[in-house]
Amino acid sequence: MNHRPARTARRASASPLFTPHTRDRARRRADRQQLHSARNRARKAAPAPAHRRGRTDDQGPMPQYPASGRPGPASARGGKLSLPAHRMTTATVAGAYPFLAEGGLGAEGTYIGRDVHAEASFTFDPFALYGKLDGFTNPNVLLAGVIGMGKSALAKSFALRSVAFGYRIYVPCDPKGEWTAVSAALGGTTIALGPGLPGKLNPLDAPPQPDGVTAEDWASEVRKRRLMLLGSLARTVLGRDLLPMEHTALDVALDCVVTHAAQSGRTPLLGDIAATLNNPGLLDIAGGELSGRLGDAARDLAHAMRRLVHGDLAGMFDAPSTVVFDPRSPMLTIDLSRLGGSGDDTGLVLAMTCASAWMESALADPNGGRRWVVYDEAWRLMRHAGLLERMQSQWKLSRGLGIANLMVIHRLSDLLTAGDAGSRGRALAEGLLADCSTRIVYRQEADQVLAAAGLLGLTSVESQAIAHLNRGRGLWKVAGRSFIVQHLLHPQELALFDTDARMH
Ligand SMILES: Nc1ncnc2c1ncn2[C@@H]1O[C@H](COP(=O)(O)OP(=O)(O)OP(=O)(O)O)[C@@H](O)[C@H]1O
Ligand SMILES: [Mg+2]
Repeated sequence: MNHRPARTARRASASPLFTPHTRDRARRRADRQQLHSARNRARKAAPAPAHRRGRTDDQGPMPQYPASGRPGPASARGGKLSLPAHRMTTATVAGAYPFLAEGGLGAEGTYIGRDVHAEASFTFDPFALYGKLDGFTNPNVLLAGVIGMGKSALAKSFALRSVAFGYRIYVPCDPKGEWTAVSAALGGTTIALGPGLPGKLNPLDAPPQPDGVTAEDWASEVRKRRLMLLGSLARTVLGRDLLPMEHTALDVALDCVVTHAAQSGRTPLLGDIAATLNNPGLLDIAGGELSGRLGDAARDLAHAMRRLVHGDLAGMFDAPSTVVFDPRSPMLTIDLSRLGGSGDDTGLVLAMTCASAWMESALADPNGGRRWVVYDEAWRLMRHAGLLERMQSQWKLSRGLGIANLMVIHRLSDLLTAGDAGSRGRALAEGLLADCSTRIVYRQEADQVLAAAGLLGLTSVESQAIAHLNRGRGLWKVAGRSFIVQHLLHPQELALFDTDARMH
């Protein structure tokens, strides 16, 4: 390495000629002469250095600093330091200048692209890293970046490339319908939901009982999941938390409906719940003495549930499922692109809640192998505490079930839109972030950098970097270690993942 400023911009390397000791002296001398004359020829052929002939604009950018180096006190030279040229091998450089580039995460996992600082391939597999990397406590991934930077393309690459490792991919809500092509290419299944479409999902479906779980335990687990779903749906429509008596009413209505459905040998439906909530007499009798006047308390709930049965989502989630969950399918996506076009997100969020509940209950089998669950466009869910709650329970279960959750948002401050500081929504969103050992940050707008740095604990260099990242390039924080990675796409992937088609 040479500390003296290079005299000509053209000289790429100062390494001396290496001649093996096995060569005799005459051969070595001949080699040196050959190199010397080649250098002379190259020097004559090259144009004169810029400072001798005057620079014109088409000769590329001017160097940022003069040849004497960075001016001012930051140069740490004070104008007096003059070191002789010093040459060393790259092995010594690594000792003299440590921490310039990360060592990498090893070669295990799916290929992502190029580690920009280390000039090496970058691979990543949350399951392979678990237990091997200090502080890597869960397989969940957060991916944030401004529009069009290639977040979905990265998520799709994870999906496509992980299939070769035997992993399965689930996309519980695809609001743009952009995963359908990927699923079709992998031989997976897509369920498209929307007004007039034949696909229907019953979010109250009971998943098959896993091995080693008693029937009693499983019944109580299924009941818990159903109650949580009903609570989320009601909270989303009402836009507020449920009152204690409303909780009781939901509880009682669910038990009532499940008992009736079991007697008639069919699966309970959301319509049955709505009808029971709308029947004050039945609720009061089923609730018993202690629960008070449940019928009156459930009035708001009954109207909330009505939206799913008679409103814009009528028929989609209030009928027996038209598809059976196939655990052997490599990929399953739920296309919700026909919903939420009116600018009101509530319909879409309700559909997402039902669709993800249906899928998550099917994923409850711990023997289902390793799986990715991708929440693309998750920023749309952030304002809905009910959905965040469901996601958090999935996040907590991730290790036990062998599931890696991937949440895609635009900016880190999306997490702050979940509620005011100290609110339940905010706590849930921050909990989701805390439960992601891997955070990938694509370009952030300048006004977002501070929020991102605060939430992720970025250094000043990392904060500067995320404001200037190009398409496909992201800052990867893996359990506290940092990488700048350029995601590389195969031409076939590029064609398959293209979301710019309508812009061309
Ligand atoms: N690494 C990459 N190299 C080349 N092209 C890429 C790369 N990543 C993404 N693209 C292209 O950029 C376009 C936008 O990518 P993508 O849809 O993934 O962006 P996004 O961040 O998900 O946008 P949005 O926030 O709108 O969902 C796509 O057409 C894709 O083919
Ligand atoms: Mg996208």
